[in-house]
Amino acid sequence: MRIENILGYQIEASVNALKQVLEPIETARGLPNACYTEPASIEAEQRRLFGDGWVCAGFVTDVPSIGDLFPFEFSGLPLFMVRGGDNVIRVFHNVCSHRGSILVEEPKTVKKSVVCPYHSWSYALEGELISSPHIGGPGKHSCPYLDKHSVALSKVRSAEWFNLVFIDLSGLAPEFSEYISPVVQRWKEFEGIPLVHTGVDSTITLEIDCNWKLAIENYCEAYHLPWVHPNLNSYSPLESHYSIVGENFSGQGSDSYSPSFSHEVKEFPTAPGLPSFWETRAEYIALYPNVLLGIHRDHFYAVLITPEGSRRTHERLKIFYYDETVRKSSFDAAREANRKQWQSIFLEDRSAVESMQRGRQSPGFKGGVFSPVMEQTTYAFHAWVARALLEGRGSKVATFD
Ligand code: FES
Ligand SMILES: [Fe+2]
Repeated sequence: MRIENILGYQIEASVNALKQVLEPIETARGLPNACYTEPASIEAEQRRLFGDGWVCAGFVTDVPSIGDLFPFEFSGLPLFMVRGGDNVIRVFHNVCSHRGSILVEEPKTVKKSVVCPYHSWSYALEGELISSPHIGGPGKHSCPYLDKHSVALSKVRSAEWFNLVFIDLSGLAPEFSEYISPVVQRWKEFEGIPLVHTGVDSTITLEIDCNWKLAIENYCEAYHLPWVHPNLNSYSPLESHYSIVGENFSGQGSDSYSPSFSHEVKEFPTAPGLPSFWETRAEYIALYPNVLLGIHRDHFYAVLITPEGSRRTHERLKIFYYDETVRKSSFDAAREANRKQWQSIFLEDRSAVESMQRGRQSPGFKGGVFSPVMEQTTYAFHAWVARALLEGRGSKVATFD
């Protein structure tokens, strides 16, 4: 399929602007303003970033029990997650195979089937059509021409890791294990440790007036710490941070992690079997394209970043612990202190990213430049986005030729 532009510019200008991002860090420019402001850029991203390869779409805890349904929109598509009778989480297009009505409008729990509100066709939690009432006339619930298999719900390839649900809208991406293995390798000491989420008291939701990429790139670097997070910087200073650049992630780590709550607040249990360096280590990475992760010896969190158009972003943060005992009321104060601490840090970041978004209205800003020392991580994300926009992520979906 041919489209006339990528970023709201004619195709040649778009390609030139993206190629500048791919120059060495010393001379590279950041992504052009159009990538943050133009509806055409979101359309290009929907095809080449979100529609071509693995993306994070939700949390395992969105559907904790058999029969739980959780509708959501991703990349302009209505989808829903369901936990089947076999306890497996599946993701389907949230659309009835009959006349295309939306099936699930809000989170709910059903016994055995998903029923369409329009003509009451029902589907098993695993996707097969169960019934199509009166399809053959009043009182006749079958029809010789209906091939039940061809009208099963349309399934989206999905996978789980660290209580997150990932999807591959193309259905053609390399195996999920290949996508996730660089992070698995980095954090291998945490692999297989059960994660405990205690619900709304460990959840933060934010709506931010910025393009989704600004939320990612701000998270990647520690350079802004002294000015945007003076409190955090007082116990986890800039000097103790190091940069992390991986194949499909980048971020920063610190070797001075020590939970900073008052003495009245209980310490959370530490993940079992960690080597001693994790005593003081914390790492924060953005797994491309759209999830922010933070790992510490006593808790883990993930922030699911969902674009809402080119200038608004929805963030959903969930904190996880490593032991069931954190559910006890004796940990209420500690969980609250931890949630509040992260909320205030993410609110501090919000002013910074909303300011950068307003700055991208200015023709006086031409992508900006990077510190070759402090911002290799942000540069890595820009380069990853530019490459994906130019070439896709390799799943052989529709291209811009
Ligand atoms: S559109 Fe769903 S049953 Fe008709
Ligand atoms: Fe920050």
